[in-house]
Amino acid sequence: MGGNLFRKKDIHSLQAGVDAAHACEGMKRVLRVRDLTFMGVAAVIGAGIFSTIGTAAYNGGPGVIFLFIITAVTCGFTALCYAEFASRVPVAGSAYTYSYVTFGELVAWIIGWALILEYSIGNIVVAISWSAYCNNLLEAVHIHLPGWLTIGYQTAKATYDETLLQGKDVSQLAYAQAPVIGGFHFVVNLPAFLIVAFVTFLAYLGISESKKSANLMVGLKLVVLAFIAVVGLWVIFSEDKMDNWSPFLPNGMTGVLKGVSSVFFAYIGFDAISTTAEECANPKRDLPRGMIYSLIICTVIYVITTLVITGLVNYSSFQGVADPLAFVFDQINMPKIGFIISVSAVVASTSVLLVFQIGQPRIWMSMSRDGLLPKRFGKINPKRLTPGFATIVTGLLVGIPSLFIDDLLMTDLTSIGTLFAFVLVCGGVLLLPRLPKESGFQLPYINGKWIIPLVVLVFLLAFRERLFLGMAHLGTQNLEEMLFLLFSLMSILAAGLTFWKNFSLIPTLGVLCCLYLMIEIPVNSWVVFFGWMMLGLAIYLLYGRRKSLLNKQEN
Ligand code: ALA
Repeated sequence: MGGNLFRKKDIHSLQAGVDAAHACEGMKRVLRVRDLTFMGVAAVIGAGIFSTIGTAAYNGGPGVIFLFIITAVTCGFTALCYAEFASRVPVAGSAYTYSYVTFGELVAWIIGWALILEYSIGNIVVAISWSAYCNNLLEAVHIHLPGWLTIGYQTAKATYDETLLQGKDVSQLAYAQAPVIGGFHFVVNLPAFLIVAFVTFLAYLGISESKKSANLMVGLKLVVLAFIAVVGLWVIFSEDKMDNWSPFLPNGMTGVLKGVSSVFFAYIGFDAISTTAEECANPKRDLPRGMIYSLIICTVIYVITTLVITGLVNYSSFQGVADPLAFVFDQINMPKIGFIISVSAVVASTSVLLVFQIGQPRIWMSMSRDGLLPKRFGKINPKRLTPGFATIVTGLLVGIPSLFIDDLLMTDLTSIGTLFAFVLVCGGVLLLPRLPKESGFQLPYINGKWIIPLVVLVFLLAFRERLFLGMAHLGTQNLEEMLFLLFSLMSILAAGLTFWKNFSLIPTLGVLCCLYLMIEIPVNSWVVFFGWMMLGLAIYLLYGRRKSLLNKQEN
């Protein structure tokens, strides 16, 4: 009845299906390289650089730029793999569709399920950050919303409990001041909900409207970030603040690596543009370019911004700072610039929200076409030419939790889910047959036979102490060390397989780098991630497996 869990889609029939769907329902093919690059930048630069960079800089000092570069290289490997897939399988659905073609249905479902973490859960984090900056702005113009309307229940309750435990006064806290209805403290993050509702409405209106808004927002945030860079560097050099860059690595690489989740979060999004493949004028040519260009632009911006903030203020001042960019300019007595930054943070986060809010329904649309989700998820609104039902469900899935939830765990979950998808996309490219030269974008083939084993050897030697420590603690409860051991084993396996099968260098490095970043994410997030994936598996076994279009064809 359920059939083969690893049945695969055929690339040609997939394209034919999309062409047929376009012929009758016709999504608009309006996106070009510049739009895609802008969309990539729109999706990438947001809450990460405006909020989480503060903690990363506090732990790693100015040297956190190395983490930005390492992460950019990792994302670069992955972007090239996405680009090859996007060029060969130019349909909406992104990593989900790519794995359907290479690994088969079960893995595709798992990826589709993991991508909910990237798009929907990621957007919860962004909406919460948006709300914090928006509240700053309102305060600056003397509009004071009650605390219990601007923070999630979970965060408010945790702050209340912690303050109580410290024996301090809690009467002014949002949780204490909230109206109590039936014993329940009514604390909600209303701005977060409202912005999600607004962005969902924009995404529902149509891709042209979304494109125009995204372009406008990207233009503004680029101008502001360039302005920050110029003013910041000018202050650093004219006021001789270069001492703040020394020591460059105050806590060594260990301190730098503490920022993996936040720094990776700041890069998430360049892959989202692959979900618009069916709305691109020339997806085979433009999607790869759009992805790579946006990644390069963002890396340059991140490295300069990190140097600026750690140059203006000593890294040790960033403890617990949620709005680091505005903070540094306050510290050097330029509060007006801080205000401009808050405006730009609100705009930047809005554009991230918009791109993700566009991406999620398109993945569901692909899953629904394949029968893995109910038909309604794939239905295109005849007037707006967007997947209307899926867009509204995305709005609810993001908007409702953002009223209540705390964002820390959500950031980790987003990073872990996205990295998981990246591993499978890079791995999937290794399984693709090579095509004649003129068939769209293809990764340059560099034989990894000798390089990968060498890289793995150097890595294991560099981390030998951690490896020995892990082996000494084998059998204890130290899950972090277990993850490291597991990674070491997998990298040895990858080295062996590459030697044997002559795997291509770039995708193999992509797999290894993403796996490494994954194991640096705290273990408690892994536990939740595992639970989420189990839930997804259960849904597939009970629903998708039977309803799958391929299953029907098989029977
Ligand atoms: N990269 C996106 C951001 O930083 C998710 O907001």
